[in-house]
Amino acid sequence: MCGIVGYIGTREAFPIIINGLKRLEYRGYDSAGVAISNNGQMGIYKIKGKVSQLEDAVKKTDIMGTIGIGHTRWATHGAPNDINAHPHKSMNGKFVVVHNGIIENYSVLKKRLTARHYTFVSQTDTEVLANLIEYIYLFAKISAEDAVRFALSKVQGAYGIAVICTDEPDKIIAARKSSPLVLGIGVDEYFVASDATPFVEYTNQVVYLDNDTLAVISRNGLSIKTIKNVPVTPEITEINFDFDEIEKGGFPDFMLKEIYEQPHSITDTLRGRVYMQENEINIGGLLDVMPRLMNARRMIIVGCGTSWHAGLLGEYLFEEYARIPVEVEYASEFRYRNPIINSEDVVIAISQSGETADTLAAIQLAKKCGACVLGICNVVGSSIARETHAGVYTHAGPEIGVASTKAFTAQVSVLAMIALMVGRAKYNIKPVQYHQLLNELTDVPKKVEEVLTTADKIKHVAELYKDSPNFIYLGRGCYYPIALEGALKLKEISYIHAEGYPAAEMKHGPIALIDDKMPVVVIAAKDKSYEKIVNNIQEVKARKGIVIAVVTKGDTIISQMADYVLEVPEFETAIGAMITVIPLQLLSYYIAVMRGCNVDQPRNLAKSVTVE
Ligand code: F6R
Repeated sequence: MCGIVGYIGTREAFPIIINGLKRLEYRGYDSAGVAISNNGQMGIYKIKGKVSQLEDAVKKTDIMGTIGIGHTRWATHGAPNDINAHPHKSMNGKFVVVHNGIIENYSVLKKRLTARHYTFVSQTDTEVLANLIEYIYLFAKISAEDAVRFALSKVQGAYGIAVICTDEPDKIIAARKSSPLVLGIGVDEYFVASDATPFVEYTNQVVYLDNDTLAVISRNGLSIKTIKNVPVTPEITEINFDFDEIEKGGFPDFMLKEIYEQPHSITDTLRGRVYMQENEINIGGLLDVMPRLMNARRMIIVGCGTSWHAGLLGEYLFEEYARIPVEVEYASEFRYRNPIINSEDVVIAISQSGETADTLAAIQLAKKCGACVLGICNVVGSSIARETHAGVYTHAGPEIGVASTKAFTAQVSVLAMIALMVGRAKYNIKPVQYHQLLNELTDVPKKVEEVLTTADKIKHVAELYKDSPNFIYLGRGCYYPIALEGALKLKEISYIHAEGYPAAEMKHGPIALIDDKMPVVVIAAKDKSYEKIVNNIQEVKARKGIVIAVVTKGDTIISQMADYVLEVPEFETAIGAMITVIPLQLLSYYIAVMRGCNVDQPRNLAKSVTVE
């Protein structure tokens, strides 16, 4: 949450920082600000609202300077307003700071600084940090770098920061603990940002800053040290980035583009891993841990939100094919219990961003208990990808819309590959059946493509029910996680209250909600519980509920009962079941657009949840 960009070089910094912040708005978008240093003068421009509003507000101002830092905010401490927007200046104007994270002991620090006559203009924890750095700098008469380092040793919590000192204006000091920061190395220029997207058109040479490290970038170079002042040799990574991936490519929103990208993103996720001719799955990143996977006593899947829903489908797949007992845990709950984990357990952490604070903490706990920890991440080089023993990237490409869509189907594809690979290695699956299952998996992109052609029908249903204040989503077995995901998509982007339930649980309470105004979305594609779901639909109809059913193409039974059917192509197993999420993604998308909501940047949300 919150995005940071910093630039030092030979070009004008302001446009680079503004464009960079726009690419980071998925991390937060309630206020934006930029500080530019020019010949010892520091100009700070900040505003409540989006980066484009900041850009408009300063249109007539001549902003010059080749060094600067910027921020796009998701508020934690203090309401979104002009004053709480970053950058924050220290009381005597010596330091300017942008910050992503939370300083947990900020109130204690604030009290101490107040006792030393420091005053504060904002409600933020970041201003406390700026003042702490300044206080130490002035009191101890040390360099800006040492003052930052010393201040950070007094701080509890999470931070990714970029700092400029007005006495040493030719450098940016950046540091991180639990919030991501990436450095970009160009020719006579350097960048720092929360991810690499702000500077991909300038350089493909990046350094992922490790936890508890501090970097100083100037026009002449880069130095990295640990917070304890031990020099670190920068490890430069070359990134491959397709620029089109971060543009809308003719779609009105990133979310729609990302829904439509799924045939490709799933194919990319399977590519080089599923070998039909050899009847084999080969995931390089898991070779070393295969014995631990095969001998796992138990699997624990951790994640948040949509990634947790993917984990629930993973449970189904692992139990079915790998025959390993699975528990699926919200990372935020798991990390604060005292879970019983040992070295025979395998923990799989799922995260699109690879930066979710709770998931990261769950991994650290599992590692401490001796479990083998795998990561399924989309963002290459992310904290979770680097923190796990082994892992698999989803290769879905950058997901910019805040609501997760293509990441979900890519995560399920990876879980399916691992479950099948382990199941086959344990001889639970015979070669012929394995071949059929691989076929089903590699057919998913084609079937997703087919569902996407039914968008007009889905749009029609959206038009009819866009004003409903409530929705219920029902599914059984592997469709239950899909029901949860459908409900989450709807509520987060359209602000309609929606509940996902296992269909059979309806009788234990939620059925009381059903009347002739309640749309009930039922995932009812053919599988072994088909008859049961038909009964559940009857129960909804008997209470006059409006049934919108996702059915297998050509279904004649449910078509006669339901008010509307959304068809998906036929599939055989839970692997193919992931395609049933596509109509639900589109339904939410169209409803939200028809209600005038900003689907890419829904209120109160941010994509990368780096605070717990
Ligand atoms: C919902 C959504 C969130 C994320 C959750 C976890 O559409 O995007 O629920 O799934 O915040 O994020 P990651 O996967 O980045 O750990």
